[in-house]
Amino acid sequence: MNIAVIGTGYVGLVTGVCLAEIGNQVTCIDIDHEKIAILKEGKSPIYEKGLTDLMQKNIEKENLHFTTDYNEGLADNQLIYIAVGTPQGEDGSADLTFIDKASESIAAALKQDAIIVTKSTVPVGTNEYIKEKIQSALSENITIQIASNPEFLRQGSAVYDTFNGDRIIIGSDDQSALDVLEEVNADFHLPIVKTDLRSAEMIKYASNAFLATKLSFINEMANLCERLGANIDNVSNGMGMDKRIGSSFLNAGIGYGGSCFPKDTRAVISVGKDVGYDMPLLENVIGVNERQKVILVDKVMERFQEIKGKKVAVLGLAFKPNTDDMREAPSIFVTESLLDKGAAVHAYDPVATENAKQILSDKITYAANVKEALDGADIALILTEWNEIREIPLSDYKKYMNHPVIFDGRNCFDLDERIGNDVEYHSIGRPV
Ligand code: UGA
Repeated sequence: MNIAVIGTGYVGLVTGVCLAEIGNQVTCIDIDHEKIAILKEGKSPIYEKGLTDLMQKNIEKENLHFTTDYNEGLADNQLIYIAVGTPQGEDGSADLTFIDKASESIAAALKQDAIIVTKSTVPVGTNEYIKEKIQSALSENITIQIASNPEFLRQGSAVYDTFNGDRIIIGSDDQSALDVLEEVNADFHLPIVKTDLRSAEMIKYASNAFLATKLSFINEMANLCERLGANIDNVSNGMGMDKRIGSSFLNAGIGYGGSCFPKDTRAVISVGKDVGYDMPLLENVIGVNERQKVILVDKVMERFQEIKGKKVAVLGLAFKPNTDDMREAPSIFVTESLLDKGAAVHAYDPVATENAKQILSDKITYAANVKEALDGADIALILTEWNEIREIPLSDYKKYMNHPVIFDGRNCFDLDERIGNDVEYHSIGRPV
């Protein structure tokens, strides 16, 4: 099929590349000339495992094209995916500016009937708004249908998730649009759920809100475990074996970050407010997460009382491993709080350093490797569980630091690994 994908952020680009990989003719459109120039050269502007190889392969096969020109991008395409960002607005609601712009550009350039498919995460009712906005601006002989096809990709494993996800959701109030999308998606060989437009939009928000709830719940249990002498790893393991609970997303840590959970939980609350419905559960999910993001600093202060002038090594800056994304990363809040208290922060991240510099500028020192960060440090904080960081043996902390005191925000080490290593080790929800 001939497909256009609007927006080449991580959702749009991964969608476009993977649709090309299963045999479609895909044109990705973006208004950012610089980005399109980079993409045309077969280079990916984002760090996403496996994406560059797949992109280059499909450019060579002439399945995948890039343009900044809507007229060129939409010509002959019956399927048009919208995958632009829906960032958080000032009041917590989703900002639909890019959706508006994409809709206006589609309306101005579309010359044939088409199905518009929204990939972007949008409040319930937005797809009807998009349809109305585009249709009312088109000439009478062109008809569009609208469908919602939310994505459930995790950054860092987005390509893998596209081919190995748990389900594909397609929502539309047009049966023929559902049928076309079912056929297009059949080649991913995943379970397909066909539903109505509004339910599809809601499935996305409800899924992210539920996962965020699961994380705040387990983090709250971890904090309680610490006070009661229990071990959250053992508790999660025992809980997760109950199929009704499930074992994934039960790793306690320093809270969720990234571009999705923080924004989507706030957007759900905002949508609730619009219809006069309070959501105290989700409000508290967010509150618990805010507290969790700086919990390591509380632990440091409890242990040291004063950290002025101390060298603190921060290992990991990205909001999670395998991504260079720093959006709402707990590391931002942790380092800022450490700096406020007068500490000298030396941070290392395998790939997120450049993005971190945009946010934390020269307030901290960026180490070129783990050794440089740890060298002579008084305190070490583990904030992102990159394999490279997980694999540092405790003996290395002993080798490089003065008197190693480690605060592990991701429970990277088994408690038994402390035996024989002369280090002080604090983690989340486990005995010291
Ligand atoms: C999340 C969802 O998992 C995807 O299904 C969804 O498509 C995406 O948002 C989106 O809406 O675009 P993502 O934000 O990339 O994906 O990352 P996750 O792997 O879900 O991790 C989110 C946060 O939870 C990270 O900060 C991570 O460190 C934290 N986390 C995750 C934990 O603290 N413990 C866990 O057990 C799992």
